[in-house]
Amino acid sequence: VDPSVAPLPAPPVRSLAWVGDAASGRLRLLDQSLLPAEEVWLERGALAEVLGDILRLAVRGAPAIGVAAAYGTVLAAREAARAHPDDPAAAEGALRTGAEALSRCRPTAVNLAGAVARTLEAAGPRPRPEALLEAAQALEEEEVLASGAIARAGAAWLLGRRRVLTHCNAGALAAPGLGTALAPLYLLHALGEPLEVWVDETRPLLQGLRLTAWELARAGIPHAVLADGAAAELMRRGQVDAVIVGADRVCRNGDVVNKVGTYGLAIAARRHGIPFLVAAPLSTLDPLALSAEEVEVEERPGDGVRYLLPGTAPAGCAAFAPAFDRTPADLVTALVTDRGVVERPGPGTLAALAGSAASLHRTRRAGR
Ligand code: MRU
Repeated sequence: VDPSVAPLPAPPVRSLAWVGDAASGRLRLLDQSLLPAEEVWLERGALAEVLGDILRLAVRGAPAIGVAAAYGTVLAAREAARAHPDDPAAAEGALRTGAEALSRCRPTAVNLAGAVARTLEAAGPRPRPEALLEAAQALEEEEVLASGAIARAGAAWLLGRRRVLTHCNAGALAAPGLGTALAPLYLLHALGEPLEVWVDETRPLLQGLRLTAWELARAGIPHAVLADGAAAELMRRGQVDAVIVGADRVCRNGDVVNKVGTYGLAIAARRHGIPFLVAAPLSTLDPLALSAEEVEVEERPGDGVRYLLPGTAPAGCAAFAPAFDRTPADLVTALVTDRGVVERPGPGTLAALAGSAASLHRTRRAGR
């Protein structure tokens, strides 16, 4: 079967969904911070709860935080209407304040601010919770379709490359549908193609070890985890046929901002002549960021690095704890998007896609 037209498998998990109507519904989330030890589902009916969940990575991954924040605007509008029942202007002001907080609570993934701006715009002037819910659901559906398109395009590219290494978690937990970097792997597996996935543990928060390994096990895909520092040695031994990762932001010039450790992997892959693929939907392409130098990289508390186990680091030890890093475009073999594969991404090869992304991010520009 040609993967580019193959039927898609069901995702191994659906980690978030809106349940109920706009007036009394809730955002249902799988708490990713507790996986794999516990599967706890949260029901969130308050804006502050959703903000907290995004901040503490209970929901994480660029497209997933965008969709969660889009649903967060429904809660913001509901609370604003209740706080100011007789004053529509004050209610609108409160909604905008809530939406702003959602847009800014994590700085690196452009999906977050992009999704909030698009949801508000689609819901029209003085948006009501019902209109915001409809817009958020449409956005979620769009991401599901994008993940399917990435699955097909990426599977066609990867066909015949059995041993694939990935970093962080860019699967169904991180994006509605099949995910981004893992989406092609789910499709190849469903088509009966042999696969062995190498999973970087992804220090310091262990999204690979905890989340990607959990997802791949649910899907029945053979995999093994490794310490991030072992990836280059694995490549040197000839055990990796391709690397595929997701992205939090793809810049106008093709630079990629993704989970810290991605840049080092890209360098190692180039040294060993291994293709380095980045999978991302159009919503992750930021036409306003000319290069990765312009993108704010979130810093996390140093304790994530210091304390793998209680008492690991000497007391008072300083730490460097960026959540993301910047991979220059020239290290990326191909960008797998829902609009097709861009080989050797750069300002020229990305021009058409950046034009499409510009219309998605139109309102974000206006809001700057
Ligand atoms: O800090 P996280 O866990 O939200 O970081 C996630 C990543 O870096 C992913 O690779 C990226 O968001 C793509 S997810 C489809």
